[in-house]
Amino acid sequence: MKLLENKTVVITGATRGIGLAIAQHFSKHGARLAICGTNAERGAQIAQSLSQEGGDVKFYQVDLSDSQQVANFAEQLQKDFSQIDVLINNAGVTKDQLLMKMKDEDWSKVLDVNLTSIFYLCRALIRPMLKARQGKIINITSVVGLIGNAGQTNYAASKAGLIGFSKSLAKEVGGRGVTVNCIAPGFIKTDMTDVLNETQKAALLQHIPLARLGEPSEIAEAALFLSKANYITGQVLTVDGGMVMS
Ligand SMILES: NC(=O)c1ccc[n+]([C@@H]2O[C@H](COP(=O)([O-])OP(=O)(O)OC[C@H]3O[C@@H](n4cnc5c(N)ncnc54)[C@H](OP(=O)(O)O)[C@@H]3O)[C@@H](O)[C@H]2O)c1
Repeated sequence: MKLLENKTVVITGATRGIGLAIAQHFSKHGARLAICGTNAERGAQIAQSLSQEGGDVKFYQVDLSDSQQVANFAEQLQKDFSQIDVLINNAGVTKDQLLMKMKDEDWSKVLDVNLTSIFYLCRALIRPMLKARQGKIINITSVVGLIGNAGQTNYAASKAGLIGFSKSLAKEVGGRGVTVNCIAPGFIKTDMTDVLNETQKAALLQHIPLARLGEPSEIAEAALFLSKANYITGQVLTVDGGMVMS
């Protein structure tokens, strides 16, 4: 059964990893997709291959750390689609360093991509959702935003900030039928975790009851669930193999 027919879904950072898995899964479920990333070649390839499989996918080259590009992207989306049903803010970066050695630009880049771009995009796209009295915003945070991680003060601040942002926005827009939720992945097999060496991975596994890293497709399943859930808002769904239990 196709669960997203006639739904328009925007996914940021869908050229790789979790965003790509969400795009593939949602496309199989019949969604019309608008995806973005900085890598135009890869974006075009993905749009083409999903379209060949019967999907309807448009790629936008956007650097989300540039506020003008985010504004242009939001404007273009509103020209290209009469309604956006689901917005998935997935793009994210890390620039890890101990606090005392962290450069200003490593702090700014992570906050700009992981948090500020989401403020700009939501601010631009919320009005039509409110008018339509429906819409789902799904923000990809991280377990690091819940429990912290040494060497990731910038990343943890961006992801914890995103949780506060999402809960506040959920309270603002719930009365008009718009939901805002977060998914907090644990450690998922993507380029972002490829940098971990075997010793680091083995140490991590000791804290994961399900004793393995997650698959990007497992985050895509959670995103599909939240994109269909009408009575859930302001929540953080951890998909982490049991790493963080509240
Ligand atoms: N992997 C994990 O274990 C894990 C755990 C918790 C949370 N997360 C979160 O899940 C999300 C996806 O992570 P991932 O592991 O799939 O990462 P990834 O494999 O590194 O992919 C990151 C995606 O974000 C896009 N992106 C990065 N910088 C961008 C920018 N300035 N403008 C536009 N797009 C940009 C990339 O596109 P281009 O290459 O085209 O720029 C790419 O598609 C992130 O928010 C991450 O923080 C991941």
